[in-house]
Amino acid sequence: MISGKTKLLGIIGNPIEHSFSPFLHNDLALQTNTDVIYVPFKAAGDMQKVTDGLRTLSVKGVNVTVPYKSKIMSYLDEVTEMASFIGAVNTVKNENGKLIGYNTDYVGFYQSLKRNQVEIEGKKVLVAGAGGAARAVVFALVKYGAGEITIANRTISKANSLKEEVFKKTGKHIGVIEFSNALNGAYDIIINTTTLGMHPDVNAAVFPKFEEFDRYDAFIDLVYNPLDTASIKIAKSKEKKTINGIDMLFYQGISAFEIWNDIKISDEAMSRAYENFKDKVYK
Ligand code: ATR
Repeated sequence: MISGKTKLLGIIGNPIEHSFSPFLHNDLALQTNTDVIYVPFKAAGDMQKVTDGLRTLSVKGVNVTVPYKSKIMSYLDEVTEMASFIGAVNTVKNENGKLIGYNTDYVGFYQSLKRNQVEIEGKKVLVAGAGGAARAVVFALVKYGAGEITIANRTISKANSLKEEVFKKTGKHIGVIEFSNALNGAYDIIINTTTLGMHPDVNAAVFPKFEEFDRYDAFIDLVYNPLDTASIKIAKSKEKKTINGIDMLFYQGISAFEIWNDIKISDEAMSRAYENFKDKVYK
């Protein structure tokens, strides 16, 4: 029940109508008995006014989505090192008027691997894509000690700039390979961060002739619409370990909710929320 003590959370973006976050966070509030409410804020572009509004109205926290994840950064009082590396903030916490920016996309990625028992440390990883989602993944791979990281992107210049940026910020050397040559190597883990396979183009696999490729142990797809992408189906048919995109989406939300409310969500509450979230996304 909303009272005078209820804290306000929300999501800032534009468009915002299709976001699943309001459902997830209001369900988490219920499952964890936390006195918060989470609403969508369709934001006009002025981030100065938006951040002033958050402070003025004592909004406890917000998620930030397209197109503001980078734009909001310079209006915050503090940004975590990982958010600064990735160049995007998807979570803001209001600490008595001080706005702190976090990136929980990379946490979501890491947690989804951990919970599915896929180890990163020392592993040889191929990342398809070099856009916003790839940045969170690549910096997480570096942070958690991946051995050899290779990026393959259709536009190779974008992969090269990400490679240079990663070296400048972390000192880690990563490789770049032509998209069409990516499957000439062998990898422990392959991660799709591109939009290939996303609805409506559901028959597209991550790489051409992916169905003929066998030199990998685990395949992770960030695409969650559909749940089982063409690439996930191929990897499953080869009895590889697979993780689909819904997990990253779910765990980035878990991490944000824990940050705002200074709590650790129990495994029981998390399982209930996970089932409800999946039902909502795939209803
Ligand atoms: P996101 O924030 O989801 O990562 P993005 O920043 O627009 O979105 O990045 C989309 C990624 O999907 C890019 O790596 C893009 O490749 P380009 O850099 O060459 O554009 C990749 N992508 C999209 N459509 C693709 C396609 N048909 N074939 C190969 N890669 C594709």
